[in-house]
Amino acid sequence: MRIDVVSIFPEYLAALDLSLIGKARQQGLLELTVTDLREFTGDRHRTVDDTPYGGGAGMVMKPEPWALALAAALRAGHGGADPAAPAPVGSAPVGTAGGGRPVLVVPSPAGEVFTQATARELALREHLVFACGRYEGIDERVVDWAGEHFEVRPTSLGDYVLNGGEVAVLAMVEAIGRLVPGVVGNPESLVEESHSDGLLEYPVYTKPAVWRERPVPEVLLSGHHGRISRWRRDRQLQRTAARRPDLVAALDPAVLDRSDRAVLAEEGWVVAGEHVVRADPSGHDAPGAPVA
Ligand code: ADE
Repeated sequence: MRIDVVSIFPEYLAALDLSLIGKARQQGLLELTVTDLREFTGDRHRTVDDTPYGGGAGMVMKPEPWALALAAALRAGHGGADPAAPAPVGSAPVGTAGGGRPVLVVPSPAGEVFTQATARELALREHLVFACGRYEGIDERVVDWAGEHFEVRPTSLGDYVLNGGEVAVLAMVEAIGRLVPGVVGNPESLVEESHSDGLLEYPVYTKPAVWRERPVPEVLLSGHHGRISRWRRDRQLQRTAARRPDLVAALDPAVLDRSDRAVLAEEGWVVAGEHVVRADPSGHDAPGAPVA
């Protein structure tokens, strides 16, 4: 997979040299380039912003440096060739081999919310370009223009406002990158983590068996795989009900066995037809023990 990040603060992305993502880059599993948007300015001051038409607070990022930077990223994704040039007769259409069109991710609090499903989808693509906006955002015409060359995805990390896209890109590249085959050494660890099956992860423990008078739950020392799996599944259901009722409401009843349904009932949820709903529709005092 190839990833290009364009930012006016390329140093912000230095963390992508570290840990699993840094290792994946060294191993050639991820080809990741960070480019300074100011390289694509034409004036002495390397200006990237200007005042907004229509008035209002703050500054808006100028379109031309973005168009030049994104065109350079497109070319880089085509091994330096001009993606607009006619393809040699008999060759596959540009950008359609394997991972489809290049994807332009524009981090923005006004985008669609990034989830594990988004990460899974983007991990299958061959070329991702991230455009880190700052100030009040990028001139909207860049998005229109980019739509001719990319699949454009305005994407939000969540319902809060950051100072720019860089922190969001760090999070997204990590979430996507770790799903690229080979990046995480033991692929089994991707199976049982939070959000992999619509539930939060179960609690985990390590040695010592008793720590500051707190013992590890007995069942985990039993060596009984069936009981351990059931205990973990129960904790997942309880935790998800306590912390993320929106995820419980999105569960498909087809994935819930009798024991799952009994645990959910204790937490105040029942299966009604094709949905999981609150037993008490007012949604307030659902019963159930406190959750670890
Ligand atoms: N830029 C500013 N706020 C953001 C957010 N919540 N998600 C993604 N990019 C952003």
